Amino acid sequence: MPLPELFEYQTRTRVVYGPGIVKDIGFEVGKLGGTRAVIVTDRVLRSIGLVDRVVRGLEESGVELAGIYDDVPPNSEVRVVERGAQYARGQGCDVLIAVGGGSVIDTAKGMDVLLTLGGNLLDYQGVGVLNQPLLPLIAVPTTAGTGSEVTLAAVIKDDTSGLKLEFNSPYMMPNVAVLDPELTITLPPMLTAATGMDALTHAIEAYVSNQAEPITDALGIHAIGMIAQALPAAVKNGGDLEARGAMLLAACIAGLSFSNALCGIVHAMAHACGGRYGVPHGVANSILLPYGMEFNLDSCPERFAGIAVAMGAATKRASVQRAARLSVAAVRKLSADIGLPRRLRDVGVKADGIPQLAEDALADAMMISNPRPAELPDVIQLLKQAY
Ligand SMILES: [Fe+2]
Repeated sequence: MPLPELFEYQTRTRVVYGPGIVKDIGFEVGKLGGTRAVIVTDRVLRSIGLVDRVVRGLEESGVELAGIYDDVPPNSEVRVVERGAQYARGQGCDVLIAVGGGSVIDTAKGMDVLLTLGGNLLDYQGVGVLNQPLLPLIAVPTTAGTGSEVTLAAVIKDDTSGLKLEFNSPYMMPNVAVLDPELTITLPPMLTAATGMDALTHAIEAYVSNQAEPITDALGIHAIGMIAQALPAAVKNGGDLEARGAMLLAACIAGLSFSNALCGIVHAMAHACGGRYGVPHGVANSILLPYGMEFNLDSCPERFAGIAVAMGAATKRASVQRAARLSVAAVRKLSADIGLPRRLRDVGVKADGIPQLAEDALADAMMISNPRPAELPDVIQLLKQAY
């Protein structure tokens, strides 16, 4: 592949990894100068005791727990972020700790914007709007999928329009990501499968993105191989700490890739399905990924051939065209093996809503980095195929 003439790769998140490492979270807070922490999480994670582990880690270090905001739903909304920011401000916190999946971490990012800058969240949507650092944010992912613990992005639903709004700024990258695979072993098989396919979609879309460059390539292709190997094992046996650790790292590595190379048509369509019909993000990606890959196949077949090799579905000696097609088959087989739904009709999408979904997807920022330009009839056709 020819080298790009010019590119920029950016990251800033300190990543710490290890089974049980969440016990050291107070140390991380102290290093950032934090003294009063608000934990952002959801009720399920709190009820199963995961949040308690973070609280104990804080207590042991003498950091004060200023409060816990556990009101975050699976697809976070603007009003949830606003309530959370109001709560955290009232508690006088100087550091936020997000304990959860993508929705929780993205909520904490949005809260951080409002806590630091005030005003209306909607005014900060888009790319590069922020112009100053925010309060310190530590992300503790409890799923292996979103990569939000290292990305500059947050996706938050507008409760009035139903659209998923995107917020992109280097200032939204968490200061620290605490990767503790022990926190993911209670994640049920279907959530493990869906979030894992989200991570795979990040890695694949970043690898074929028109913004890809050698650093994002290295990260993306490595994450693809790790996920193909570890995801079936993590779904089959949630207690497999080795597989859990590999998935947590792979999701993070995919995050480091797509945070710079961005995603494409699959994420654009998945955001639309999530916004209009509440389809879980990973499930939507899993259903749509093979169709998006087929659409993009001819725009960069050598890239898809590389994906097939990374997934163990083709050898380097196979012809590029054949290996490229095998990458799609490998993704279909993986999602079938881990038991995810195969069609949009099975997850609540209505056939007569497809034109609207296609319009939403075309307006999504992720469409810009897709390797092949898409028009409205193309997206309608893809959604019909996946229906
Ligand atoms: Fe995603």
